[in-house]
Amino acid sequence: ETVYLNGEYLALADAKISVMDRGFLFGDGVYEVIPAYAGKLFRLEDHLERLDNSLKSIRLQNPHSHEQWRTILSPLLKNGQDQSVYLQITRGVAPKRDHAFPQKVTPTVFAMVSGITPHSDPDNGVKAVSMEDSRWKLCDTKAITLLANVLLRQAAVEQGCAEAILFKDGYLTEGAASNVFAVIDGILVTAPKSPAILPGITRDVILEIARKNDIPSSEQAIAKADIQKASELWITSSTREIIPVVELDGEKIADGKPGLVWKMFYKLFQEYKQ
Ligand code: PDD
Repeated sequence: ETVYLNGEYLALADAKISVMDRGFLFGDGVYEVIPAYAGKLFRLEDHLERLDNSLKSIRLQNPHSHEQWRTILSPLLKNGQDQSVYLQITRGVAPKRDHAFPQKVTPTVFAMVSGITPHSDPDNGVKAVSMEDSRWKLCDTKAITLLANVLLRQAAVEQGCAEAILFKDGYLTEGAASNVFAVIDGILVTAPKSPAILPGITRDVILEIARKNDIPSSEQAIAKADIQKASELWITSSTREIIPVVELDGEKIADGKPGLVWKMFYKLFQEYKQ
């Protein structure tokens, strides 16, 4: 498997960085996950714009133009395959461990590809569990500092669940590594963009599909009690696309099967990807 590190394409086993890297010592970096369908990067420009926002948030300059990013990532893609690209930029290798930014360091740039696991089974969905959102206040920054997300997802997995669905002050934010949609009173709803959530690119695509197809949708505050009335619940991300959640906290959502709106969006999303 070939990966990209600081200007070179290498075998994964040969890609090495210093233990003094700020990413390793402080989680001082940002990342993106970009799906590629049939070997073509999906919504690359949107992902690179979000990367610019994340870099701005941590006060790091983008080492590459969008055009350069396309050139860097393209050789990693396998012809005709569905994959996802992971890219990460850290503040770089500093001479000593000090919380404050080092002077004159070169960012570390890394990229690799991995698989995509969309859900296509119309008869079954996944289980999820609700949890208190224990993350920091800059969740719109796609930071590599993911310890809270890791602990939340692990707790969900240990309860036989595919995702932790997070609530902050009684309101839905998102999943540990996904955005969350619900169908409530026939309207497709999701939490509004704010520093409390990552503005998912898949989320944008779904809202766009809804508008194009005259399916009522709304970005609004969603209380925990509203979720209990939901006829459908979904999680969305670049690596999992749209996954129907059929059980939350041990209680079935509607009849415990993927809903009709999910089936429709699953189909529309597959068409949209082409
Ligand atoms: N995560 N919210 C969080 C906290 C996420 O980590 C992700 C994606 C999303 C969905 O965003 P998008 O639709 O742009 O993938 C929302 C990626 C896939 C990851 O960390 O692996």
